Amino acid sequence: MSLRALIVQRIRNHGPLTTAAFMDLALYHQTLGYYTRAPRRTGRAGDFYTSVDVGPQFGALLATQLDEMHRLLAATGSPTFDLVEVGAGNGQLGRDLLDAAQTTYPELYTATRLTLVETSAAARAAQPATLGRHRARLAASSAAMPDQVCGAILANELLDALPTHAVTMTSEGLREIYIDLAGDRFVERIGPLSCPELAAYLARLDVALAAGWRGEVNLAAADWVRRAARRLQRGFVVLIDYGHTAGELYSGPHDGSTLTTFRRHLVGSNGDDPYQRGGPAWLAHPGEQDITSHVDLTTLRAVAEEEGLEVLGLTDQSHFLLGLGALNETDSGTDPDGVEAVRHRLALKTLLVPGGLGSTHKVMLLGKQVGTPALRGCSFNPRTAESHA
Ligand SMILES: C[S@@+](CC[C@H](N)C(=O)[O-])C[C@H]1O[C@@H](n2cnc3c(N)ncnc32)[C@H](O)[C@@H]1O
Repeated sequence: MSLRALIVQRIRNHGPLTTAAFMDLALYHQTLGYYTRAPRRTGRAGDFYTSVDVGPQFGALLATQLDEMHRLLAATGSPTFDLVEVGAGNGQLGRDLLDAAQTTYPELYTATRLTLVETSAAARAAQPATLGRHRARLAASSAAMPDQVCGAILANELLDALPTHAVTMTSEGLREIYIDLAGDRFVERIGPLSCPELAAYLARLDVALAAGWRGEVNLAAADWVRRAARRLQRGFVVLIDYGHTAGELYSGPHDGSTLTTFRRHLVGSNGDDPYQRGGPAWLAHPGEQDITSHVDLTTLRAVAEEEGLEVLGLTDQSHFLLGLGALNETDSGTDPDGVEAVRHRLALKTLLVPGGLGSTHKVMLLGKQVGTPALRGCSFNPRTAESHA
């Protein structure tokens, strides 16, 4: 049975699904989900690019930040460094980080105990081969975060891929958007809230939503930050994702939905799904395309603080990478006009450019029991950290 047919049957038997339940099936169904079925979904042969797919430069710059974090912890009695990457896919970022650590930060390399946390069994199975010569540094490859971490928890483009609820403000108050059927076609249907946490989430933000507004409430992302904070005994959390402040996400009378989909590098294309023409693109081709939403930085920050984490920085990706020395990076090739050098410069440009990954992606740096060190990733323009508060 196809995933589409399975979802149709489930709605017929049990009624409409929340968007979170729909996303959970479309992305993570245990045999047919989009992420479940393949070891890697991004890059040229996939559906979209993450910073990791741009090249090893992203991992190399991140290694500079992790080295600083390791040195801060080592100076106060933690010689080993747990590096826990969550949403690690096939391990490509882990590989890039270890490549850079081995050549540039040997002490970090020796101290690192890498754990790759990934829901998709297909992606987990690919991790040892991706890590290659660094395999011995892999302490664990697992679907769940370790209970205790002393080091750093890292997640690049994880939270945007977590199943989210969608809500709308009506003249009768806040309502939830469900996925129902009109014949064989998935359609959105407005209904009562599926759980009280949705209203509580928005009430806490104290936002005034006009009738007609709609958007997402990502309870799973907030929960994830809570869990990460509890598992971190001492060290840092590095979150990189596209997101906005609550003020930007939850305001105005406009349609604030950020739910979107990527398929074969096209955004929001559903024209070739015979069932879904004209409807929201993310309802098309379940199990065959990504579904994603922007994260709410204000809530993630508030949850982190409630859990005893210190916000050490919140900036955009380009300032973060510039602070880590992106402009000082030279390629390993000898000819500055050679193909490798040009490729290297193009990759850095892609990671930094405003309007692209450089400004859509935000970096949140959190600490626990480490004081309030001024981290290199926040050194480029300290005012940026204030502006996102
Ligand atoms: C958008 S991809 C990003 C992959 C990689 N981090 C990168 O930047 O290229 C999101 C990944 O997170 C994984 N994922 C989703 N929920 C997860 C969870 N709760 N724990 C671990 N991995 C998860 C998905 O299976 C997928 O591989």
